[in-house]
Amino acid sequence: MATQETCTIRTCITKPPSIFMHITLLFSSLIICLFLFGLGSAGNVSPRAELYVPNYKYYHNVSSIGTFITDLVVKHPTYFRLDLNFKSRSNIPQYVLHMTNFSSSRISYGSHGVSNVKPRLLLSFGEHAREFFPVESMIHLLKRITRGLYAPLNSPEDQYTKHVLSQLDIYIIVMANPDGRHLIEKTGNYCWRGTSTGVDLDRNFPWNFGGRGSSGDPGDEEFRGPFPHSEPEGRVYLELSNTHHFDAFISFHSGIKQIYIPFADSASRKAKIVPVNSIVQLALAEAMSKAGGSSFKYGIGYNLCEYPADGTIYDYMAGVKKIPYSLNVEMWGEGDVDNKQCFDLFNPPNEKLVASLDDSMPLYDALFTHLVHWKQKQIHEQYHQLGQTDLYIPKSYVIPFLLCLCVFLAIFCRQVPCAFNHRFYSRKRVVSLRSLSSTFTVSGIKIT
Ligand SMILES: *[C@@H]1O[C@H](CO)[C@@H](O)[C@H](O)[C@H]1NC(C)=O
Ligand SMILES: *[C@@H]1O[C@H](CO)[C@@H](O)[C@H](O)[C@H]1NC(C)=O
Ligand SMILES: [Zn+2]
Repeated sequence: MATQETCTIRTCITKPPSIFMHITLLFSSLIICLFLFGLGSAGNVSPRAELYVPNYKYYHNVSSIGTFITDLVVKHPTYFRLDLNFKSRSNIPQYVLHMTNFSSSRISYGSHGVSNVKPRLLLSFGEHAREFFPVESMIHLLKRITRGLYAPLNSPEDQYTKHVLSQLDIYIIVMANPDGRHLIEKTGNYCWRGTSTGVDLDRNFPWNFGGRGSSGDPGDEEFRGPFPHSEPEGRVYLELSNTHHFDAFISFHSGIKQIYIPFADSASRKAKIVPVNSIVQLALAEAMSKAGGSSFKYGIGYNLCEYPADGTIYDYMAGVKKIPYSLNVEMWGEGDVDNKQCFDLFNPPNEKLVASLDDSMPLYDALFTHLVHWKQKQIHEQYHQLGQTDLYIPKSYVIPFLLCLCVFLAIFCRQVPCAFNHRFYSRKRVVSLRSLSSTFTVSGIKIT
């Protein structure tokens, strides 16, 4: 869809005046948005003459992704577990990898109370079939983490791995849309984005579902499907977010370098709705952008892009599931500015893959570090709030407190009942009289 318009831009580029350059930049950012979030019926997904295609010596395919993940879990059961409960419409597994140091507890106690609760993350890859890069990036991250398991003690690799595995609790949807990937491998159509029925999984969720930031046309790349959650591939998001209390959800994509916080939908855009904690979320987006060499633009989805996206997963996780952090990370690309086809728009050439993957690692590092600090801060705030209430009594106060309580109760029990029935003095007199005798009573009650 963007091809014709891109050609016009290229004609502009050949003309030197700077005004044309400005118009070019304006148009190209517009087209980038058009392409990423798509627009109306323009986004068909028919195949194109690709500039380059993946070589499976460099890129993974559906089969080698499965092999990699299952090997990982078999080799390192202390750190990786596999949930095989989820499948695509065509019965291809949607691997859910649970990664943490299972022998360190989720909660640890230090001398000042709770010192570490692992933030719990849900990372989602491969929603869009043609975006191979995010899945490769996740595999690269996993390789990097496992490398640290064999590294010398206290080497940077060893420390990195321990930091990630012991401080975080991470769930990974390895490839949300395996049918789409399978279809690409079978047909060689690298423009395919949807599920086996052509539904854009990232427009199929009940958050302003059906808005103009999606399409009702089954031939469109932004086809939202007949109704929300029409795709079996969406079930994994529902079940995981219902079962676990996630601190963060991150949906990884490619096509450009941008990081969005919620919301991206047309209704929020019109009503200027922002998440209640937008400042907190923007701080994370900023940290990731800086880590990525500041080439990443970040902001509210509908602000960064001229066109809205309705029914997205990250809006749903923020708006419906109330996950504190919900980001959409577009992790690689230059945008549709150079007469791109499909594979090259979303994925680097084979020989540049490893370098691009290395470049994407600081995004995760910033994400992890930021969330560990955020969680620790939260826990400490909760702890100190609790410390100020009556519920909390330091140990050194317990014994004096109990002694005072005993003394108080002794006096209280002895005197108060008398005062209450207005016979305090008469009873006292009775006591003092009787105390002269061999029988000692208090308030008329025999205590010896
Ligand atoms: C998948 O990749 C492997 C290499 O990792 C290759 O041997 C295999 O033929 C590929 N499968 C397909 C269907 O291309
Ligand atoms: C996992 O946790 C155990 C127990 O706390 C610790 O001894 C070990 O070093 C940790 N390993 C990694 C890789 O984090
Ligand atoms: Zn995408």
